[in-house]
Amino acid sequence: MFRRPIFAANWKMNKGPSDTQAFVKSFLSKLTGRPACDIVIAAPFISLPTLSESLRDARGVEMAAQNCSQFDDGAYTGEISVKMLREILVRHVIIGHSERRSIFGETNAVINAKMKKAREAGLKLIFCIGETLEERNAGILENVLRTQITEGLAGITAEDMDDTVIAYEPVWAIGTGVTATAAQAQEAHAFVRSVVTELYGSEIAQKLRIQYGGSVKPNNAAELMACPDIDGALIGGASLEAQSFVDIIVNGCPAD
Ligand code: PGA
Repeated sequence: MFRRPIFAANWKMNKGPSDTQAFVKSFLSKLTGRPACDIVIAAPFISLPTLSESLRDARGVEMAAQNCSQFDDGAYTGEISVKMLREILVRHVIIGHSERRSIFGETNAVINAKMKKAREAGLKLIFCIGETLEERNAGILENVLRTQITEGLAGITAEDMDDTVIAYEPVWAIGTGVTATAAQAQEAHAFVRSVVTELYGSEIAQKLRIQYGGSVKPNNAAELMACPDIDGALIGGASLEAQSFVDIIVNGCPAD
């Protein structure tokens, strides 16, 4: 089944408004032709209004937040609600990134609450999962992924899955320069799809786009994207430079 690839830049805590504006100008000037894929940029909250403004004439490039609150408006100091994200035209939200899990203590239950809250507001989900090196070496990769998927997606309906992307990001490959081999990535992606098949049936699982993330670079994008169950990438470090983000998209996805 054809699945349109989706390439998402995850800037993490990089690029304030002025860097955002400069990036978009450079990115749009370098992205010539129309690659046959979806393109998303996940900027820090404070840069999203500038991103929106800068992308106004760039049809086809959408915005993501990197996180959202699991609560509605109210007494939650420092948080950003899904309603606020909608108000500034954010379409997607990354939930469950490994940095949120490991540095900020987000559990599968918290992540699940955020997923449901984001769907209530109509946001599209980029739901991140992935194992640590210890878990992989201990032979519990599949258990870890199965638990993350099952608990993260609890209460997410079949209809919601139309607006959900799963990003498989082995923690040991994030920001380390170590990429999973195409074979390792494909094997994990096929497993993720099989768990989604168990939960939602094969039609939904076959439609689901599964991104790979973890040290994706211009020189490994094509090989990874050629794998049958890899449907795009979530890109951290290499998305910070316009040229390398463009090169990943162009190498990983043919032009229309
Ligand atoms: P990286 O980050 O591309 O810098 O490894 C990926 C991510 O954390 O989403």
